[in-house]
Amino acid sequence: MSIDPADFRAAMREMAGAVSIIAAGCGSRRRGMTATAVCSLSAQPPTLLVCVNKDTECHKAIVEHGAFSVNVLGANAEGLANRFAGREGTRGLERFAAGRWSALATGAPILEDAVAVFDCTLRQSFDGGTHSVFIGDVSAVSTQGGQAALVYRAGRFAAVD
Ligand SMILES: Cc1cc2nc3c(=O)[nH]c(=O)nc-3n(C[C@H](O)[C@H](O)[C@H](O)COP(=O)(O)O)c2cc1C
Repeated sequence: MSIDPADFRAAMREMAGAVSIIAAGCGSRRRGMTATAVCSLSAQPPTLLVCVNKDTECHKAIVEHGAFSVNVLGANAEGLANRFAGREGTRGLERFAAGRWSALATGAPILEDAVAVFDCTLRQSFDGGTHSVFIGDVSAVSTQGGQAALVYRAGRFAAVD
């Protein structure tokens, strides 16, 4: 039985997801994108996976630099989520003009005001058709609890305490 992609998308829209910015690269080669396809893989060793469209600039930066960060957004970061999804027309390095960015262990861009940050070394990638599944070994982590988190469902952002 073949499923209509529109039906698949409609069903996926019902799934609430935490919103993160995945970022990679250094200096003028920094690239980043908004993502909900982020998942814990294991705690020992600490690993996670992300699903990244092969057409994105971020995909290229992850492969080139062999590292990426996952920056989990707080409820007040809806503007950044839209910006890093390309909804404000900004692309590439220009996106990093908003937000306070630094680096931790791998050199990948880190959002200082994120609820949680996972700084990852790329361990392995899998071909998922339009997307790659990247598995990252977590090299550094930081957490700023006590903030409401940003989630996305049915085309809308919402805050979760
Ligand atoms: C809420 C939300 C979640 C997204 N999640 C993903 C994701 O998990 N993986 C992905 O490849 N793109 C995802 N996107 C789309 C990218 O953010 C968007 O295509 C971005 O502009 C890619 O950056 P680029 O300019 O490098 O192409 C998401 C967009 C939104 C608004």
